[in-house]
Amino acid sequence: MQIFLDTANREEIARGVATGVVAGVTTNPTIISRENKPLVECVRAVLDVDPTLIVLVEVISDRAAGMVEEARKLAASSENIVVKIPMTAEGLAAVKCLRRDGIRTTVTLVFSVNQAIAASCAGASYVAPFVGRLDDINADGLRLVREIKALFKVQNAATGVLAASIRTPQSVADLFAAGCDIVTMPEKVLHAMFRHPLTDAGLRAFMEDWRKVPGGENAFAALHRKGQLAQCQS
Ligand code: G3P
Repeated sequence: MQIFLDTANREEIARGVATGVVAGVTTNPTIISRENKPLVECVRAVLDVDPTLIVLVEVISDRAAGMVEEARKLAASSENIVVKIPMTAEGLAAVKCLRRDGIRTTVTLVFSVNQAIAASCAGASYVAPFVGRLDDINADGLRLVREIKALFKVQNAATGVLAASIRTPQSVADLFAAGCDIVTMPEKVLHAMFRHPLTDAGLRAFMEDWRKVPGGENAFAALHRKGQLAQCQS
């Protein structure tokens, strides 16, 4: 179970990494275009924040040979990069070739079970169903993910599911419950995941009560003094 962020923005990535729950970032041409700098600099900025992050980067060629060439360059530039390949016939041919090279791929813009089957048969490491874009047109993104997961399980497929295009924190819970390996989301959804008014109210009450504890303001300084607890235990 891994959480990725949909961004190439250094500040957003730094805030996400600081939460301790972000394992990677997902980019696409739209996300890169927002940063107003070359792709190489965007990737470098991500890895400057945290060199352990997985970075998903999409190829731009529309021909298999071009995609393979771009993917090889990306993979050679950093072992953290997983290459995104669009869900087209040319893309599938590229995935097959890259599989032979040992280059990890995510087939992106998946909107049907048959597209997921085709991507898995070609050797994709992950398929990326775009949940929110289906919901946007009154279809059912979660249902698609459940169908893909069920089919991959029946077929014992080696392809993982990376759910993308996420609109709400509830969707994240539903998608992980459906068995998604990775859910990639915008920053606002990430932070909405762990906010709860009862947590805030509970914490306020604890802090008010703490003021009633004798010596409460210095309690932790006292604990830091060497041997304090060891003496109590002996
Ligand atoms: O990974 C990118 C994908 O999540 C795009 O989402 O909001 O453009 O549908 P969106």
